[in-house]
Parts: sequence; structure tokens; C-alpha cells
Amino acid sequence: MEKHLVFRLTPWIFLLVIPLLYVDIMWGKNIRFEQRLHYISSPVSISSSSARKMMIVNPNKTVEENSDSLHFLLSRLVQEQDLKKFRATGFSCDTQVYSKHCVTDRATQIDTGAMTVTIPTSQPRREAWLRPYARQEDEILLKKVTPVKIVLGGNATAPPVCDHSHGVPAVVFSTSGFIGNVFHEINEIIIPLYITTAIFKKNVVLVVEDYRPSFMAKYSNVLAQLTSYEILNAAAAAAGNRSSVHCFSGAIVGLKFHGHLSLNASDIPRGLSTLGFKQFLRDSLHLKFSHVSQIKKPTVMLLSRRTTRRIINEEEVVGMMEDLGFRVVVVARAKVISNLELFSSMINSCSVFVGAHGAGLTNELFLPDGAVMVQVDLVGLEWAAATYYGNPARGMGVHYLRYKVEPEESSLLKIFGSRTHQAFVDPKGAFPVHVGREVYLNGQNVRINVERFRETMVEAMSLVRDEPM
Ligand SMILES: *[C@@H]1O[C@H](CO)[C@@H](O)[C@H](O)[C@H]1NC(C)=O
Ligand SMILES: *[C@@H]1O[C@H](CO)[C@@H](O)[C@H](O)[C@H]1NC(C)=O
Ligand SMILES: *[C@@H]1O[C@H](CO)[C@@H](O)[C@H](O)[C@H]1NC(C)=O
Ligand SMILES: *[C@@H]1O[C@H](CO)[C@@H](O)[C@H](O)[C@H]1NC(C)=O
Repeated sequence: MEKHLVFRLTPWIFLLVIPLLYVDIMWGKNIRFEQRLHYISSPVSISSSSARKMMIVNPNKTVEENSDSLHFLLSRLVQEQDLKKFRATGFSCDTQVYSKHCVTDRATQIDTGAMTVTIPTSQPRREAWLRPYARQEDEILLKKVTPVKIVLGGNATAPPVCDHSHGVPAVVFSTSGFIGNVFHEINEIIIPLYITTAIFKKNVVLVVEDYRPSFMAKYSNVLAQLTSYEILNAAAAAAGNRSSVHCFSGAIVGLKFHGHLSLNASDIPRGLSTLGFKQFLRDSLHLKFSHVSQIKKPTVMLLSRRTTRRIINEEEVVGMMEDLGFRVVVVARAKVISNLELFSSMINSCSVFVGAHGAGLTNELFLPDGAVMVQVDLVGLEWAAATYYGNPARGMGVHYLRYKVEPEESSLLKIFGSRTHQAFVDPKGAFPVHVGREVYLNGQNVRINVERFRETMVEAMSLVRDEPM
């Protein structure tokens, strides 16, 4: 079976080279090879047009909030150099590599059918378009995100009449994108949404376009901690002949992004940290353990992949961990892993989390502080392993250990014959992106050198044993 997989890969490599070189050239701007390797590795999002859920807003719910403090909160999402302009015009946008968001502290009308945001100001009329998703560098993905039209100023056309008035600001974002992949869901929507809305202390209405019921249901407990208002599904609110203009005391279109699985206290709105976000997750999901010392018997969670990047000698690895005195929990079923309530509490009661590179490692966010994250770092995936899961782990208050596999442990050695082959020496130069993806990401399994891996696990054991409260 394994051999079969390995040999099936070889013709792929040659077949893919020529046609995909073309696609490769067409692909995005100045994006790293390794990053592009991952772009296309994510599942295609599921269409949801038939299953849109209706949510009705309670128009009576308003907060006593003076406009000064609302202005202050909104201005926290404006870069320092733009504050002067923001005060003068009531509108400002922040454009970064990954994210773009616009902020206004003026009374704002949102036509949920046309996805038009109208901001009456005394300025001459201007129009802008924004696709509110934290992946602005990915042109292909962004095409799936419905553009929001922002109309500023000008009184030639009367502003639309409000059908519903909310006394709080709106945050407009899309749940299009890589829905179904936990890394992308949390990295590109949940964390940016927290960054953008946490400062409002639930006094904010979430206006969701490209509404995905599966996503909204999965994260309902988390979303409920960000807003005390019902969530507005833009398309459903505009369905049929219903009126669809919602008015707000201000608005943010788009979500602010700080970095992969991380928050940056020095970036706007300033003062948010990854540790604070972890605490927020624990509160939202009622997770029990905040610190690893609260777990009595050292427990390892081994994330078992069943299709790609498999650990072939998993049983042997588990035996070694048990010999060292760990209780070992092996989780393989996608149904368990995608059940946020269940899996987050399972991870939260573990002291060590072990897995090969992949989206499931995003669950490191649920580890108690002081726990250990061990990543099995495969051939050709070093950059991604560090960027997406390794470096962020450190900001999460967990110890990060990397187990770098040798070519002898990788199934790729059978294909390329020698560890001096370019595939091992220079993965970046060896193949164009799409082929590289088939080889390193989809075509690689690992047989771990248990003796060598034992050293990593011994270190993990001493870290969790010695971890002071
Ligand atoms: C809003 O308040 C009015 C009057 O107090 C009441 O009749 C109405 O039912 C309320 N609407 C909602 C949605 O609670
Ligand atoms: C808005 O309308 C007023 C009165 O009709 C007019 O004096 C003013 O120039 C208009 N402003 C803009 C920006 O069109
Ligand atoms: C929508 O409402 C208008 C005015 O109430 C009515 O004339 C029209 O027939 C309605 N259209 C549909 C499709 O129900
Ligand atoms: C955090 O944000 C500040 C301000 O934008 C920036 O200078 C710094 O490089 C960021 N740090 C990281 C680790 O991205």
C-alpha cells in the first residue's frame, strides 16, 4: 500500500511540470515559493446558497454610549499617521499585505442586498470597493469574496432610508475563503474578528456576507462572546421583498490581521496579545485548564493523519511515549478533530501535542500555558512548519520542540534514491510550485527514528514536569 502510493507519485512529477509552469507564472505577485505551496493545498469551500439562515436583528437593543467614547474606540483601529485625517473626515482605511479595513465613526447605512455602505459626510462624493477578508495578497481567493461598495459623502443622491436602526457600530466581513480548514478559519476569520471587535465589549453588530452556516454553527460559542447582538446574514436580510437598509452609529469594513495565529500588542488596536486571545477561547469554550501543572498525569495527544503526511510506525512511537511515562491519546477521526467543542477540550487536557505539519496543529491554541508543542518537521516543509505553527507557538505561552526528519525517515528517499538528490538538498529549486506541493505536501509519509525521537520526548517530559505554576 505504501509502496503503491510512492510509485504512483513519480509519473505525476513529470506530467505536472510543463502545464503547471504556466499556472505558476500566472500566480500572485511577490509571494514566497513555500507560501504558494500552501495556497492551493486547502480544501475548496462549500457552497451554501441553498442553506442560508435567517437572523433578525432586535431594533430595540441600543447601548448608552456617548459618541466621544465610540469615536475613541473606532480610532483605535486607525493608524497613528491617519488619525488627523480620521478626525477631520470621519473615515480612514488601513492597507497592509494581508488585510485591509476601513473605519468610520459617522452614522452609516448598509444596504445588505447591494452590499453598499453609505457614509454621509460633507466631502465630495467618492466610491471605494473592498473585499472584506484577511487574505488580501491572494488574488485568486479574493475573487470569491463579495465586494463591498463604500459610498462616501456627496449629497447629490439622498442617502437610503433606514429600515432598522442599531445604536452600535457594525463590523462587515465575509465568511468565504477556505472554510472547512481549521487553520484558515481561525487564522483568517476568528483571530482577525477578535482583533477588530474585542475592544467594543460585545456592543457591535456582525454583518456577515458570503454567509456559511457550517462555519457560523461551528464557532457559535466563540462568536457569542464577541457580540451581544444577533448576527446579521446580509443575503438573508435582503431576501425577497424585505427592506434591507440597516443603520449603525459607525462601521468597520474588513478585518485587521496581525500575523499567522498571532496577535501583536504593538499593532492597532494595541494591547491585544495571543495569550489574551487564548484566555478568550478558554472562556468561550469553557476549557478547564489554564496551566499545564493542573494536569496530573503527563498526557500526549498524538494527531494521527490518515491520508497524507502519515507517521507509518505510529504504534512504535506510541509505545516509546508510554515507556517514558506518558498517557497517550491518539486522535485520527476527522469527525472528532472538526468538532470544536470536543476537540478543544481534549487538547486542553493534554500536556504535550505531537503532530506532523498540517492544519490540525492549529489546535495548539487550546493547549494550557506551559504545555509543549512537538512538530514533526518534514522534508521541504521547514519554512511552512516554522511560519504557520512553530513561531506562533512561542507567542502562545507553550514550549515549541521541532523534530526535523532526516531523508532516511521520509518516504521520499525511495522516490529520489539518494539524500544528495536536489529534492532534499534544494527543495525550493527542485520543482515548480504545483509539483512541489504534490511531492512534499501530498506525497510524503514518515517512518520516525524512534530512538532519536525519544530524545525529543524526554525533553518534552522534563519541560512539563518542571514547569512552575
Ligand atoms: C421593541 O419595543 C416595542 C415597544 O417597547 C415593542 O412593542 C416591540 O415588540 C419591541 N421589539 C422587539 C423586537 O423586541
Ligand atoms: C450639499 O448640498 C448643499 C445644499 O444643497 C450644497 O450647498 C453643497 O454644496 C452640497 N455638497 C456637496 C459635497 O455636494
Ligand atoms: C414588493 O413590494 C412592492 C410594494 O409593496 C410591491 O408592489 C411588489 O409587487 C412586491 N414585489 C414582490 C416580488 O413581492
Ligand atoms: C508588531 O507590530 C509592530 C507595529 O505595527 C511592528 O513594528 C512589529 O514588527 C510587529 N511585530 C511582529 C512580530 O510582527
